[in-house]
Amino acid sequence: MLRLKSFADIQGIWRSGQVLSRLHEALAPMLQPGVSALELDDFARGFLEREGAKSAFLGYKGYPRQTCISFNDEVVHGIPGQQKLKAGDVVSIDLGVDLGGYISDSARTYYVGDDPPADIQRLLKGTRESLYAGIAALTARQPLANVSRAIQRVLVQHQLGIIMELTGHGVGFSLHEEPTVYNFDPGGRRPIVQDGWVIAIEPMASLGSTQIILAADNWCYRTADASRAAHFEHTVACWEGRGWILTDTQDAEARERFGGAGGG
Ligand code: MF3
Ligand code: CO
Repeated sequence: MLRLKSFADIQGIWRSGQVLSRLHEALAPMLQPGVSALELDDFARGFLEREGAKSAFLGYKGYPRQTCISFNDEVVHGIPGQQKLKAGDVVSIDLGVDLGGYISDSARTYYVGDDPPADIQRLLKGTRESLYAGIAALTARQPLANVSRAIQRVLVQHQLGIIMELTGHGVGFSLHEEPTVYNFDPGGRRPIVQDGWVIAIEPMASLGSTQIILAADNWCYRTADASRAAHFEHTVACWEGRGWILTDTQDAEARERFGGAGGG
């Protein structure tokens, strides 16, 4: 069953998403050679505590940390440990925030160092652009598959491997809700998008294989061919017929619409 969100719910998820976005903004300048993933995770714990929020990942199906931090060929769900960042790494930071019971989910991928090689630029730019193409395709009364197809088109354009076994999802009242949001055309016309949907759109792509392998920790997924991977994700609402990004402090339109006290 898919539970629709009210205007007030979307405002709550937007507030959660603003805390999340500010945590991304605080972490980004910390992604320097020598810092460990665990140090970043500890910073997230303190940040969320000061905000009166908590991680939506900690304890989810027994997940042991606040954040997911995935290095290089790790696609998603890297468990932060002692591993230190080094120049040349591709690092994905995936955050989930629970603020007053409203859940937001958003990921960004970075290159550690100054001049990313051309293939890494293509990986980061292509995956990020596919997310924004997917968001732009979110339209009420249209198939959700339009979002999936838009993502796929951009990933294919950039000659990236689409990680087909992992998907986006509904979010807001809990971390993983209906519907499933594929990053490739799933075929068919169902489901149809409606106002009141809130979904996490999250393309994951690699410089090589579309296949993944689950690590021994039973969380972390790596690319089957050890090629590097990227992951970009926003929590997005469908409202007044179109998509609104709830996990970006820089989105002035969403702030205007959902940031005030005003009603539906
Ligand atoms: N963003 C991830 C996802 O949507 C959530 C990490 S899983 C968790 O699958 F267990 F860490 F929460
Ligand atoms: Co997600």
